[in-house]
Amino acid sequence: MSAPSMHPSDKSQLRRHFRSLRNSLSQTQQIAASEQILAQCHALTQYRDANFVACYLAQDGEITLTPIIEDAWQNGKTVCLPVLHPFCKGHLIFVKYRHNSEMILNRFAIPEPKLNVADIVPISLLNIVFTPLVAFDESAQRLGMGGGFYDRTLAPMIRNEISPQVFGVAHDCQRVEEGLVNEEWDIPMQKIITPSSIFNAS
Ligand SMILES: Nc1ncnc2c1ncn2[C@@H]1O[C@H](COP(=O)(O)OP(=O)(O)OP(=O)(O)O)[C@@H](O)[C@H]1O
Ligand SMILES: [Mg+2]
Repeated sequence: MSAPSMHPSDKSQLRRHFRSLRNSLSQTQQIAASEQILAQCHALTQYRDANFVACYLAQDGEITLTPIIEDAWQNGKTVCLPVLHPFCKGHLIFVKYRHNSEMILNRFAIPEPKLNVADIVPISLLNIVFTPLVAFDESAQRLGMGGGFYDRTLAPMIRNEISPQVFGVAHDCQRVEEGLVNEEWDIPMQKIITPSSIFNAS
């Protein structure tokens, strides 16, 4: 975080600042970042051993996971994407994503696989959930877009020993040096993966 006047508890100001930073990255920087994230994942046994990985489709300057999605498909992993829960407001479900999945735009204009009950994957089956984020700190705290979707959806899994590994994915410029305020509802990330580094939960 570069602006010294910014207070870590002012989440809306932090979100504006870091969304604007990531949106100012060039196409070349974005492509390089996405390839570096795949290289980081290849070095992680959790990724190499994973059978079910939940990814996201990048919006708003987020790092695209396209290289990971392609790699996962090639290696026989099942790729899932988050879909807004049709009844349970503020929650996500994870749905299988294939080359030929029929996609629809949700109410945030984010593409998601058309909901087919047979394609829903229970969270307990997911090995890794890659989450987008707006800002992070070196102890792997995450600030998201503010909807609380991942927090709500993954909260019941936190005490569960078979819960997925939750890895935040971010550009290096999204790091808050002063640290983020941890809200009681924020679900912990096991790692934040950036193109240059991996930050582990403290
Ligand atoms: N487990 C939960 N139960 C009830 N409300 C929750 C829960 N988790 C988050 N919320 C609500 O969601 C709101 C947004 O949460 P927060 O600011 O942590 O979003 P975020 O983590 O940045 O967003 P996202 O997870 O969608 O990227 C909070 O103000 C809180 O009221
Ligand atoms: Mg949160």
